[in-house]
Amino acid sequence: AHLLLLNGPNLNLLGTREPGTYGSVTLEQIVNRVSQLAAESGHHLSAFQSNAEAELISRIHEAPASHVACIIFNPAAFTHTSVALRDALLGVKIPFIEVHLSNVYARESFRHHSYFSDIAIGTITGLGAFGYELALRAAANYLTLPRK
Ligand code: DQA
Repeated sequence: AHLLLLNGPNLNLLGTREPGTYGSVTLEQIVNRVSQLAAESGHHLSAFQSNAEAELISRIHEAPASHVACIIFNPAAFTHTSVALRDALLGVKIPFIEVHLSNVYARESFRHHSYFSDIAIGTITGLGAFGYELALRAAANYLTLPRK
C-alpha cells in the first residue's frame, strides 16, 4: 500500500535542533529508514515536511487521489494548535498514527493537549526517532486487520 510520512514545522532542523530533546538523527535519516522498512514490508512510502500549515493541509487533501492507505504524522507544534489539520484528516477519512520524538507529557503543559490523539489510530511519544519505525510497523499491521 501507499503510506505517507508527514512532518510539521521545524522538523527539517532535526539533527541540530535541541538535540537533548529531539536527538541527533536527521529527518533525512528518518525518512530513509522508514522508507526502507516500508519497502521491506511490501509498502511504498512518500514523505513530506513543511513549515506551513496550508501545505500540510494540501498534502492531506491530495492523499486520497494518490491512494494513501495510512498516514504517519508528526504535526510538531501544530499538534497543540491546529483545528484545521485535524479537520483535514477527518475530511479525507484516512487513518493515521501520531508520532512525537519527545515525551510531550514530560514537557510544558501546553504540549499535553493534542488536537490529533483522540482521532488517531494511536500515538507514539517520547521514543525518539525509533518512534517512527514503530509507527511504520504499526501501520503495516493495521493494514492487515479486517476493515471496521
Ligand atoms: C514534537 C513535540 C511538539 O510539542 C513540538 O512542538 C515539536 C516536536 C516532537 O516530535 O516531540 O516541534 O512534535
